[in-house]
Amino acid sequence: MCGIVGYIGAKNCVPLIMEGLKRLEYRGYDSAGLALIKDGKLVIEKRAGKVADLAAMIEEKELSAFLGIGHTRWATHGEPDDLNAHPHWDCKGEIAIIHNGIIENYSTLKKKLIQDGHQIRTATDTEILAHLIEEMYKRTKDLFSAVRYALLEVEGTFGLLAISPLEPDRIIAARRGSPLVIGVGEGENLIASDAAALVEHTRQVVYLNDDEMACIFADSFYTKTIHDQEVVKQIEEITFSLEQIERGGYEHFMLKEINEQPTSLENAMRGRLMVKEGDVRLGGLHTVMDKLLKARRIIITSCGTSWHAALVGKYMLEQLGRIPVDVDYASEFRFRNPVIRPDDVVMVISQSGETADTLAALREAKSRGAPVLGIVNVVGSTIARETDAGVYIHAGPEIGVASTKAFTSQIAVLGQIAILLAKNRGLPQNTLAKIARDLADIPDKVRQVLLLDGQVKKIAQEFKNADNFLYLGRGSNFPTALEGALKLKEISYIHAEGYPAAEMKHGPIALIDENMPVVFIVPKDALYDKVVSNIQEVRARKGRVIAIANIDDEEIDNLAEFVIKVPRTYSYFGPIINSIPLQLLAYHIALLRGCNVDQPRNLAKSVTVE
Ligand code: G6P
Repeated sequence: MCGIVGYIGAKNCVPLIMEGLKRLEYRGYDSAGLALIKDGKLVIEKRAGKVADLAAMIEEKELSAFLGIGHTRWATHGEPDDLNAHPHWDCKGEIAIIHNGIIENYSTLKKKLIQDGHQIRTATDTEILAHLIEEMYKRTKDLFSAVRYALLEVEGTFGLLAISPLEPDRIIAARRGSPLVIGVGEGENLIASDAAALVEHTRQVVYLNDDEMACIFADSFYTKTIHDQEVVKQIEEITFSLEQIERGGYEHFMLKEINEQPTSLENAMRGRLMVKEGDVRLGGLHTVMDKLLKARRIIITSCGTSWHAALVGKYMLEQLGRIPVDVDYASEFRFRNPVIRPDDVVMVISQSGETADTLAALREAKSRGAPVLGIVNVVGSTIARETDAGVYIHAGPEIGVASTKAFTSQIAVLGQIAILLAKNRGLPQNTLAKIARDLADIPDKVRQVLLLDGQVKKIAQEFKNADNFLYLGRGSNFPTALEGALKLKEISYIHAEGYPAAEMKHGPIALIDENMPVVFIVPKDALYDKVVSNIQEVRARKGRVIAIANIDDEEIDNLAEFVIKVPRTYSYFGPIINSIPLQLLAYHIALLRGCNVDQPRNLAKSVTVE
C-alpha cells in the first residue's frame, strides 16, 4: 500500500529512486512521483499512472540530485490523478512529503489550517500534513521537531518522509502502522517501505517501529520516538538476494512465482520435517510450544489468500491435532469483542507481515493475554516482530499481487504444525512417518503438475470469454475452491465464486446453464462419490465441467468436459497440489484477456490501511 523510497549520499539519486519505485510498485500503482533538493530548491515531478509513465515524463529532463524521495501510490483519499499524486508540499514550496497510510482526522485539521490561511490544493489527507508541518516549522525552525509536533496532532497511520531545502542535508522519517526500513550504506543512506528497494545498495538495514522517527544524513542517522525518547536501533542483515526479486526470464512475476513452488515448498520444510521420525522441529515456536500443545482451542486470523490458507489449516489441525480451530477474518475478529479464554492460542497468517487488519487483530489478541504466533513470509516485518513466536514460511519475496507461492508454503507450515499436534496426542510413529512422507513428497508432485501448463492453457482459451465461474470442492478443497475463484477474480476480472460442492444445491445451482463453467476439485478421497453426484447435477443442467482429479481416476473422463489430472496425496495436503492448475488457469485467462497480471486494477500486495 504505497511504496516509499528515499536517498541521501554522493550519487545521483534519480535513477536509484526510480529503480526503487519499480521494485515497490506492487504496493500501489495509481500514480508515482519524486521530490529532489537541487540548488537550494525543491524539484517535484509526479503524475498519475505507473512508474514507467513517470520515467517517460522525466527522461528528457536529465534530473540529478544527491537527496530525493519517491512514492508510488495506492489511492485512499482523492482520485488517482496527477494533482493528488505524491509528493505534496506546503504553501511556500519549502517542505515536501510522501506518505503511506491514512490521516483519519484530516478534515478537522484541514478546517483549522484553512482558517489559518493555508491554501490547500488537493483532495488528499497527505497534503494537510505538509501544511501542518509548515505551521510547526514556523515555531521550531527545525524540520525533525516540526514533523514530530505535527504527528502528535495526527490520528491515523503513516509511513512518512519529509525533506526541505531549508535543511538540505537530511531526510526525516516517521512511522505508525506503515513500514519503513533504513538502508545503511557507506557515505550514503536510504530509506524505503520495503527492503526490496534497498537490497541492490546495501544489506544492512534498520527497521523502524511504530511511533519511531529517524533523522537521516548521508553518513549517519539518529532515531527517537514521536514522544521525544531516545531509541537505540539494531542493524540487521537482509536475508534475500537481488536475484530473488527479479523476474529471471519469466514474462510475469506471477508465473515465476507459480513455477518457484517446488523450491519454495522445499524451503518451507527444510531442516524442519523429519520424515523417518515422523516429527517436526520448529525452533521459532519454542517459547509457545507448551501452550500450543496444551491449547483447548486455536484461533487463526488473517486476510485474503492467507485466510484461505487458514481455512485449509483448520481441516488439517482439527483432523491431526483434534483441537477445535476457529478461523476468522482479521477485520472481523478485531472489532467483534472476541472471546479469548486462557488456554486459547491465536495464530496470525500473513505473507507481507504488514496487513493492517491482521496486525490490529494480533494486537487485540495480545491485549487479551493470548499467546500469539505468526506464520509470516517477510522476514523482519511488523507482524513477525510483534508476535510472541512464529514460523517463517521462507517462500522468498513474492511480488505478483495475486499470492501463489506464499499460499502453498503457508499450508506446508500449517501441515507441519498439524503433525506436531498429532505427535503430541500420541499418533503412532509409523502413521506420523507416513503423513510426513506425503508432505515431503509434495514438491516433486508440484513439479509434475507444472508440466500440465500446456493443457491448462487450452482450457483457458476455451473459457476466456466467460462472464462467471463457479469453483466447487469439499473438505479441505472447499478453501481450494475459494482460492481458485479469488485468483480468477483478482487478475482476470471475471466474476467467480467458490462454494462447498454440496452447498451448490442451496443457491448457486440456479446460476447454472450452458454458459457456466464449473471447476470441480474432485480428488479420489472419502468424499469422491458425493462430489461426483454434484458433477452430475451440474451436467444435468448443461453446465460445463472442468475437473481437477487424480491421475488414477478413469471414471472422471466420462463425467467432465475437461480434466486435469494431478498426483494423489494425503487428502489434507491436497489443496497444495490442486491449487497449482487453478493458479495457472487464472494466469492464462487473464493473459488472454489482456489484463495486467502482476498489477491488477485496484489491488495492492500489502494492504496497510484498514
Ligand atoms: C492483499 C493481497 C492478497 C493477500 C492479502 C493478505 O489483499 O492482494 O494477495 O492475500 O492482502 O495479505 P497478507 O500479506 O497479510 O498475507
